[in-house]
Amino acid sequence: MEEIRVGIVGTKFMGRAHSNAYMDVAHFFELPAAPAMEVACGRNVSDLQAFARRFGWQKTETSWARLVERDDVDLVDICTSNVTHMPIAVAAAKAGKHVFCEKPIAMNADEARQMLDAAREANVRHMVAFNYRRVPAILLAKQLIDEGKIGTIRHFNAVYYQDWLVDPTFHMVWRHDVKEGGSGAHGDMNAHTVDLARFLVGEIEAVSGAKEVFVKERPLEDGSGVGTVTADDALYFIARFRDGALGTFMATRFATGRKNYLRLEIFGSAGALVFNLERLNELEFYSRADPGPEQGFRTIMVTASSHPYIDAWWPAGHIIGWEHTFIHEVKDLLEGIAKGGAVYPDFYDGLRCQQVLDAALQSADEGRWIQISES
Ligand SMILES: NC(=O)c1ccc[n+]([C@@H]2O[C@H](COP(=O)([O-])OP(=O)(O)OC[C@H]3O[C@@H](n4cnc5c(N)ncnc54)[C@H](O)[C@@H]3O)[C@@H](O)[C@H]2O)c1
Repeated sequence: MEEIRVGIVGTKFMGRAHSNAYMDVAHFFELPAAPAMEVACGRNVSDLQAFARRFGWQKTETSWARLVERDDVDLVDICTSNVTHMPIAVAAAKAGKHVFCEKPIAMNADEARQMLDAAREANVRHMVAFNYRRVPAILLAKQLIDEGKIGTIRHFNAVYYQDWLVDPTFHMVWRHDVKEGGSGAHGDMNAHTVDLARFLVGEIEAVSGAKEVFVKERPLEDGSGVGTVTADDALYFIARFRDGALGTFMATRFATGRKNYLRLEIFGSAGALVFNLERLNELEFYSRADPGPEQGFRTIMVTASSHPYIDAWWPAGHIIGWEHTFIHEVKDLLEGIAKGGAVYPDFYDGLRCQQVLDAALQSADEGRWIQISES
């Protein structure tokens, strides 16, 4: 079987999630090409070596600039903080490597466009890790929408709640610094829900937002003082979709008690859909076509072999988890590379999402509606 040799940059949260996906994918899916976990790249040598040993990366490299030039790497996987995405992705594409990049694609839409241009020019495959498109229940929602089961969509309401910053003594991390993240909760969490909105409903044409930093200073991790928080703790915005629907997007790390609560409610002229990431095997569906007294939301357990990706896993009702979303996206990426076909969501999707994120941020700064450009 053909091999696709992967070089991964970043060894922490997403480095672990992607490594797990490469380790598992060929065990469960029939693939035209298997991933070879060739080179891991990180800055801290002892962390890097421990990571490589634990997950089975064969070689290590301490500079991403050297990694992207290596002859033993076909695919560069970017699992680093947002400020590094553009330079790594552009250099990798120019070196002829396929590129898989974590979300948000970049610091802003200008950077995202540079990434898209570089990938198109080099004719390499490119994908953004919007892994929630690979939840079987989300794909079932998409199928029901495409079949007209909920009719014309009027509302797409998304909340993404976490609470890990409620404690004011939680120390500074790169996610608090606009210079490293571009934004805070917004780019981290609204990036996912904006991508899902584009996937399920369509393009957004205008937004109006508000944001807040609730805790302005936090202790530095090494105990040497405090740092200033420059990235939003929360950003909420309302949106108009091109096709006439209205949307709401709420991202906050101050939702006391909520851990990773991404909930979508989609209301259409013929029905409605509700999804909650913390119960990702389920999809709630309401149909106006159901007979009168029995009408009501039903909960579909999305674990039947007829549901997307599930026949590779377990018998019905034997639920899957969050990490499977990464395995599914890696499967689709490897197939796209092996067969030479397009893979989605690609850098164009990353750019379109980033344009919405940039507009919401600008709106929150300027206190007015912002139109989103057509392309
Ligand atoms: N898809 C998802 O559900 C999801 C979830 C969390 C994070 N993310 C995204 O993944 C990316 C990484 O986030 P994370 O949570 O893994 O962060 P993290 O802080 O856990 O890890 C970041 C890693 O990047 C490394 N790094 C930073 N700059 C580097 C450089 N110049 N060279 C080499 N390594 C460098 C750090 O050393 C660290 O290993 C971010 O873009 C984030 O938004 C996506």
